[in-house]
Amino acid sequence: MISFAGGLPAPELFPVREIEEACHYLLREEPKKALQYSTTEGYHPLREFLADSMAKYGIQHAAENILITTGSQQGLDLLGKVFIDPRTPILTGEPTYLGAIQALRAYGADFMTVPLDEDGMQVDRIEAVLEKEGMPRLLYVLPNFHNPAGTTLPEERRRQLVKIARKHDLIIVEDDPYGSLRYEEEDIIPITALAPERTIYLGTFSKTLAPGLRIGWVVAPVEIIQRLVQAKQGADLHSSTFTQMIANDVAQRGILKAHIRQIRKVYSERRDTMLDALTECWPNGCCWTRPQGGLFLWAQVPEAINTVDLMKVALAKKVAYVPGVNFYPKADGGFNAMRLNFSNAIPERIVEGVRRLGEALKEALL
Ligand SMILES: Cc1ncc(COP(=O)(O)O)c(C=O)c1O
Repeated sequence: MISFAGGLPAPELFPVREIEEACHYLLREEPKKALQYSTTEGYHPLREFLADSMAKYGIQHAAENILITTGSQQGLDLLGKVFIDPRTPILTGEPTYLGAIQALRAYGADFMTVPLDEDGMQVDRIEAVLEKEGMPRLLYVLPNFHNPAGTTLPEERRRQLVKIARKHDLIIVEDDPYGSLRYEEEDIIPITALAPERTIYLGTFSKTLAPGLRIGWVVAPVEIIQRLVQAKQGADLHSSTFTQMIANDVAQRGILKAHIRQIRKVYSERRDTMLDALTECWPNGCCWTRPQGGLFLWAQVPEAINTVDLMKVALAKKVAYVPGVNFYPKADGGFNAMRLNFSNAIPERIVEGVRRLGEALKEALL
């Protein structure tokens, strides 16, 4: 089976030896701290490291503005716990991250949506939605290398979004697991740097280091951090002291930076391989995004094809993807779309998988 379905980093690139060294070092030098309970806010040196490293992107928050979470998925869950009651409206682009739909819906969120285009969320359509449907509690945005769409929100749209949020006094949630996995062009200023007073930023080591460590973080105004800390106390007291210290050790020793350089190179080659293979092997009438970073692209096939039905044919040919409808909060779109991951297979398997999907599409069009 060749799977383009998950959002998994390439396991053969995990910095195993460096993490092993960090484990030995911590158990030898700081075992009483590494294996003990710790504060809900998170390991202070790691919070300081994150504050410093985000300053390079223009984010001017201090360690006090950072809460370490058990993956950024927990950040989404805590936002649900603190901000969402049954029927609370959330505004998001569509398609949107499936895990956010799941986390927020569990607390009863309703979704208001605006469509995406090749530059991400169509921010100029937000006000019309607000006028028609009322004010949402949160604006949930994926500005960099969107999951699932692969799009990036240009600076102009980020500024426009901030303007709208300020005008209507709305809180923005900026979910950014992929921001440092950029393969071309320049970084774009994060929304939280433009509107630190009203943005809740979510980051994670899952895509840049290893998801098994389960270390993410929330950056927000202190009043919001305090409410999230209370919610987190009830959930898990704190995230693993040991893996926070491992992440901190690996980051402080410069290994994270070197590792990100390496995965950027490998993933950008895999992205190019997938784009070339799509051009070569897929029938006319299909199109796809060309992501500047991240792990995914979004492909659209002729409208006659439903990608949920196509999945049976694809699985018979031993290739998998995620059908587009899963990323629509109201399940009312994406029927002829699919999300393809390019980080988790070597180039030969990417070419072969895209070829098999091309065959499935051609058969479906007969
Ligand atoms: C947009 C987005 N947010 C959050 C997450 C959750 O990541 P984690 O909990 O591993 O940090 C993911 C994982 O794929 C994601 O794509």
